[in-house]
Amino acid sequence: MKSTVLYKGKAKNVHSTSDENILRLEYLNQATALNGKKKDEIEGKAPLNNQITSLIFSDLKKRGIENHWLEMISDTEQLVEKVTIIPLEVVLRNVATGSFTKRLGIEEGTILPKPIIEFYFKDDALDDPFINDDHIAFLAIATDEELAFIRNQTLKINTALIDIFSQLDVTLVDFKLEFGKNVAGKIILSDEITPDTCRLWDKQTGQSLDKDIYRKDLGEIVPVYQEILTRLKERGE
Ligand code: C5P
Repeated sequence: MKSTVLYKGKAKNVHSTSDENILRLEYLNQATALNGKKKDEIEGKAPLNNQITSLIFSDLKKRGIENHWLEMISDTEQLVEKVTIIPLEVVLRNVATGSFTKRLGIEEGTILPKPIIEFYFKDDALDDPFINDDHIAFLAIATDEELAFIRNQTLKINTALIDIFSQLDVTLVDFKLEFGKNVAGKIILSDEITPDTCRLWDKQTGQSLDKDIYRKDLGEIVPVYQEILTRLKERGE
């Protein structure tokens, strides 16, 4: 397929296609942590994340949650609707862990009485700083109305994902979303939902089935991501 690389990311590259409204995402075998300071090539990661995100995004579509995903076209590639990414990392937490416990001194594993949403400014040079609604307005990242929509969608996506992952006997601890504006100017869920971007704990053992395995040097991620994919497929549609 004739195309040019529009953007080289840490976990995937974005290519143009012959259709100006469609992009091709190429998943990479690269794993990174600490905003790219820790980096490794991990054979087999790209096809796992391509399949996992495809299954989740197509399920979300069926539940009426609009998103950029169109179809998987190879082991490592998928077609998506063209969007302009809003430079926000939207994190939702159901259980306290990661940077939340460090920042606030909350005990690891504390179940939060209601989901907590956080915003980070997507800017590698600044190390994706934690920002609030006033910063978002000041930086003109989103209007108040757009931010309210993003919050509301994030809560809806959380409800859907909790349902999907509980069918896999997995607790959805926290996750990060990105949204983009499509050519019609509508804000839709974009990027990916994979064990790279979620914390997933096995309900029986409490074991991490996500990128914390890599971040904390706890072992191999491919078998763990494979486990999530196998459970997603076994669940059936
Ligand atoms: O590290 P922290 O606790 O803030 O991460 C919260 C959630 O956001 C985790 O699920 C993590 O995988 C995700 N995240 C991400 N990309 C980042 C930062 C966090 O996917 N750059």
